[in-house]
Amino acid sequence: MLKARITVFVSGGGTNLQALIDAQKSGIIESGEIVLVVSNSAGAYALERAANHRIKSEVVLKKELGSQEAFEARLTEVLEENQIDLIVLAGFMSILSGDFTDRYANRIINVHPSLIPSFCGKGFYGLHVHEGALAYGVKVTGATVHFVNEIPDGGQIIMQKAVEVLPGDTPETLQKRVMEQAEWIILPQSTEQICKEIIKKK
Ligand code: GAR
Repeated sequence: MLKARITVFVSGGGTNLQALIDAQKSGIIESGEIVLVVSNSAGAYALERAANHRIKSEVVLKKELGSQEAFEARLTEVLEENQIDLIVLAGFMSILSGDFTDRYANRIINVHPSLIPSFCGKGFYGLHVHEGALAYGVKVTGATVHFVNEIPDGGQIIMQKAVEVLPGDTPETLQKRVMEQAEWIILPQSTEQICKEIIKKK
């Protein structure tokens, strides 16, 4: 069966990458195959997860390349070399320019740990998102998977899932619940949905 070629962009621990790998193994993802992991950090544990599952990886460092343009030119090269159909941002902590997102319109998706449009955009990443939700006092939060365009966290929404905030939550306990009850479920489901659409057009 023809499959969409997926790359997962990571920066850190890679628990969402792990959820995608597990979903591929269990058949939740059947229309695509993760062929490449790209990290913008050399020490990311996500790279070990890729190696453990014999998935090829590339480290692309903005600092070494000197500019956003050079960073994105290298990313583009890597995507072309590997004939990538879909880019999944899974804890990728670098903002991509409009030039880059236009080139891959409807071919980049991202998981964000809140119900967009709450607690999103510049400055809202990782634990900061959950700090924001707790400081505001919301009783429900969640996660969103969306297409990526030039506006940080501003692209069309693909899936969302709500998660309860509980008394006594810390940013860490809330992050864990949002990952377990929302991110690790809707990111693989959305990936399968978009891959299915891509192979229909292939
Ligand atoms: C996840 O909660 C992801 O949603 C978030 O960072 C964490 C990465 O964890 N992403 C963002 O905040 C992007 N704006 P992981 O490396 O274990 O998947």
